[in-house]
Parts: sequence; structure tokens; C-alpha cells
Amino acid sequence: MEFSGGTVFPVMLLLLCALLISEGQNMADSTSSSCDYPAIYNFGDSNSDTGGIAAAFFPMAAPCGETYFHRPAGRASDGRLIIDFIADHLGLPFLSPYLDSVGSNFQHGANFATGGATIRRQNESWFETGVSPFPLDIQVEHYTQFKERSAYFYSQDKVASDKSRLPKPEDFSKALYTFDVGQNDLAAAFRKMSWEELRAALPDIVNQFAKQIRGMYERGARAVWIHNTGPIGCLPASTVKVKNPPPGYLDEHGCIKSQNDAAMEFNTQLKETVVQLRAELSGAAITYVDVYSAKYGLISNAKKHGFEEASKVCCGIHGLENDVWCGNKGIVNGSEVYGGSCAEPGGIISWDGVHYTEAANKWIANLVLNGSLSDPPLPIARACHPQI
Ligand SMILES: *[C@@H]1O[C@H](CO)[C@@H](O)[C@H](O)[C@H]1NC(C)=O
Ligand SMILES: *[C@@H]1O[C@H](CO)[C@@H](O)[C@H](O)[C@H]1NC(C)=O
Ligand SMILES: *[C@@H]1O[C@H](CO)[C@@H](O)[C@H](O)[C@H]1NC(C)=O
Repeated sequence: MEFSGGTVFPVMLLLLCALLISEGQNMADSTSSSCDYPAIYNFGDSNSDTGGIAAAFFPMAAPCGETYFHRPAGRASDGRLIIDFIADHLGLPFLSPYLDSVGSNFQHGANFATGGATIRRQNESWFETGVSPFPLDIQVEHYTQFKERSAYFYSQDKVASDKSRLPKPEDFSKALYTFDVGQNDLAAAFRKMSWEELRAALPDIVNQFAKQIRGMYERGARAVWIHNTGPIGCLPASTVKVKNPPPGYLDEHGCIKSQNDAAMEFNTQLKETVVQLRAELSGAAITYVDVYSAKYGLISNAKKHGFEEASKVCCGIHGLENDVWCGNKGIVNGSEVYGGSCAEPGGIISWDGVHYTEAANKWIANLVLNGSLSDPPLPIARACHPQI
């Protein structure tokens, strides 16, 4: 009896140490282990739309898709988008658009992004301004329907082959949820608002983004990968229209400074909001990815990275009296011309004046996938571990 008090205590201490050591090891192991996502669910605009808006309205016109798919493949590019490189990197197939009823396979995820999508609902018609009728909140509704209905049909199907195009219900909680949206909220603001009004609107735009992330968390999303918005002021479709700019209007790389400032302010607020969400949503792993820096780094150093100057557009004709958009016909100097593509898309950054070429997307994806521009700085394959 006399000895027991003396022996129990050290044993407990030892146990405690063992516990602490194994905890520490678990933590190290847990961030270094691969997440093996069974699926990707993506939300956003044309930067990551793999065919949603094309399915809803008109097919993408040739020569889109010429480099990789050798046919128009619903993407506003000559080939793959960043989301395609993400899927490939994680060993998953390209994402089928939720809205596409032909040839789709949702076993490893779905894409809810639509070209022209915004965070906030815009009171505009797709036919007039190209704003998507499927803003972020509607994409989340689509996801909710998708999750419920696919679980229902999965449980109904008795034959394995009938299930082969549906995700397993248990995979939703282990999936990667990716977001790339906000650029069109800025574009809409540039059309309709003063700078003061835009500055006043930014907190609401970012809050509405956060509201949808919370909604996705409630629906079971845990690994969330959020791209910030790119340097919208560098898009050649806008910069070629600038004639005789006042001093300071363009930066040293020919980008519209005020527009990039708006994008950077959006990103600052988004990053702060992600930090708040991380504290609020326990068990979630939310990564903020600085795609802006990747894109701006490429644009500002195009030659060094093997590209022609960033103001060049591969497909379509811009900077004359009328825009002739990629794959369309238009009038230039009184005669009809076709907005075809350049000989070497692999050396050009901008595909159509607004969207990037496959070569540029690949370059950007290479840079962001390893986590070097992420907060926290984990590679995408390990971005499922909660960071507290
Ligand atoms: C759209 O219109 C409604 C009603 O007129 C208004 O409350 C809302 O603020 C508008 N939204 C935007 C983004 O302009
Ligand atoms: C249109 O006319 C201008 C001025 O004459 C000329 O510089 C330009 O090359 C012409 N563009 C095309 C596409 O023919
Ligand atoms: C990430 O990849 C980029 C581009 O390949 C490279 O420059 C950078 O050093 C890499 N960073 C890390 C942390 O691996």
C-alpha cells in the first residue's frame, strides 16, 4: 500500500508522455499524409467551367478546344483549365458539368461552375450581358439537389453498372470542394458602379461568398480550396481598348491599375474572411490560394516564362472598332472577318482576350498545386487536414 502512491504517479506521467508523443506524431503524420479525395465538387465561373453554360445555352464555338480535346469541349480555352489540371494531378477524371445531360459521369464529382457566374445575384439577363443565371447560391442549390438525388438513385439501383456514374454517398464528406468566383462581380461593378460604390459593396460580396461556404460546411464539405480572384485589369480585351491613358492609369505591365486594386482589395477581404471561417467551422480545412499572384507573375514576366507579351490575344480580333470574339464573325474595315486562332497557342497567355490558354493554365496550375501560394502552405493533395 505504501508504495502504490509512489508508483502510480510515475506510471501516469509515463502514460501522459506517451500520449503526448503519439499526439505529436499523429499531427505530423496527419498533415503529411495524402488525402486521397474520392471526388471533386467545383463552383465558380468560366475560369473553371468545363461545359455548364455551354450545355445551358449554346455550345462553345470552334476553335475552342483545338489544342487538347481537338473539338469544342465546353471550356473557354484551347484546352484544359486549371480545374482539369487539378483533377489530373489528384488522379481523378475531368469533372462533368452538372448541367450536362449527355456523356456525363459523376462518380468522382461534378462541376457546378458556369461561365459568367457571380457571387451575388445580378439583375441582368444572360442574353444582354452574359451574366450567368446560376450564381454561387444557385450552384449550391444544384449541389444540394445533386447530393440528395444521387444518394436516392444510388440506393435504388440494384445493378452495379447503374451506379457506376453516381458518387458513393459516403464519398461526399471526403471530397475536395473547390471555388473560383468573384471576377464577374467585379466586372459587373465596373459596368454599373462608381469606385465608391464598389468599395462599399465589397464587404457584402465577400460576406455572401462566406455564407455559401458556411452552407457547404452544413452540407458536409470539409476540405475546401478557394482561389482568390485574378488580375482582371490585365485582361487584353479591356486593355487594348485603352487609348491615350492618363499618366498612372496603366501599370508598368499595361494593366488597368484601378481594376487590379479592386481585385486585390477583394482578395484581402476574402483572405481575412477565410481566417474567420477556419476558426468558426471546426474540422474544416479551408485553404486560400493566391491565384492572383500566379497570374500576375506570369503576365509581368511573360518572356522569361517562355510566352509572348501578355497583351497578345490568340483567338479573335480586339482593339479595332468592333470586337470579333473567338470563333465568331464580325465586321472589320467594312468587310466580314472570322475571329480565328493564332498559329501557336502554346506561346500566348490570353486565349480570347478574357480567358487563358491551356499553356498558361498549365503554368499557373503547376505553381499553385504545390501549395507555395496557399495559406496554409500545403500542397493540394494534403489540403484536407484541419488547421488550428
Ligand atoms: C436587384 O434588384 C433588387 C430589387 O430591385 C435589389 O434589391 C437588389 O439589390 C439588386 N441586386 C443587385 C446586385 O443589383
Ligand atoms: C483595318 O484598317 C486599318 C487602317 O487602314 C489597318 O491598319 C488594319 O490593318 C486593317 N485591319 C484589318 C484586320 O484588315
Ligand atoms: C512549387 O512549384 C513551383 C513551380 O514549379 C516552384 O517554382 C516552387 O519552388 C515549388 N514550391 C514548393 C514549395 O515546392
